[in-house]
Amino acid sequence: MSFELSKIVSWGRQHDEYVRMFDLSAADLKLNILSCADGPSGFNRKQHQDGHAVVSIDPLYRHSAEEIREHVLAAKEEVLAQLQNNRDVFVWKRFRTPQELVDARIAAMETFVADFDAGREQGRYRAESLPELSFPAKSFDLAVCSHLLFTYSAHLDTAFHIAAVLEMTRVAREVRVFPLLDLNGHTSVHLPEVLAELSRHSVQAAVTPVPYELQRGGNQMLRITCP
Ligand SMILES: C[S@@+](CC[C@H](N)C(=O)[O-])C[C@H]1O[C@@H](n2cnc3c(N)ncnc32)[C@H](O)[C@@H]1O
Repeated sequence: MSFELSKIVSWGRQHDEYVRMFDLSAADLKLNILSCADGPSGFNRKQHQDGHAVVSIDPLYRHSAEEIREHVLAAKEEVLAQLQNNRDVFVWKRFRTPQELVDARIAAMETFVADFDAGREQGRYRAESLPELSFPAKSFDLAVCSHLLFTYSAHLDTAFHIAAVLEMTRVAREVRVFPLLDLNGHTSVHLPEVLAELSRHSVQAAVTPVPYELQRGGNQMLRITCP
């Protein structure tokens, strides 16, 4: 059975998962970070609480906190069923069961919802969409993107991936993208073309290991040093 979602699901991870997915050091965490497609994750809130500059973008942020909450809860059953039907695609270590994983995602969403109104007011949550961002060149030290690019390889084409990655390299000094696998746990079909395009632009990019693995074999990120 393959892992299929009818649309891009707004599903949030916790701050400590971001730290491991992007191999963020203590020094990295102090950088001015743009988190693209940040969804209902707990990353922004914790960064802000720790006194670090952070901005999250996602088209989801057009909606109210309550609408986002309902949207996430509505996806719960579909995601749980997909996880149960595709257990072998995941490493059940930190999360021991599909239910435990879903509960963690709901907890991250509640962390986000509690912060959303204040964060939007402060400009930390902005309703924007890749591949076009409103920020001037090099506004951020680091741009990260978790579980949109490559994950949704079946929903987003190669041209979108290339445009999105290039846009992130425009607004930040460094870019990290995780994971490199699609929903079925296969290396994204778009990765070779993205790497080739970066090389054509003489942009330094490397696939590097990270200390996080939930999708089996999904322990690498794309790390780009922007020109
Ligand atoms: C699976 S969620 C990932 C959320 C978060 N990054 C995480 O890992 O916990 C994917 C997110 O991508 C967002 N998204 C969809 N299209 C987008 C676009 N064109 N630009 C930016 N974000 C987008 C969705 O709204 C959703 O919140």
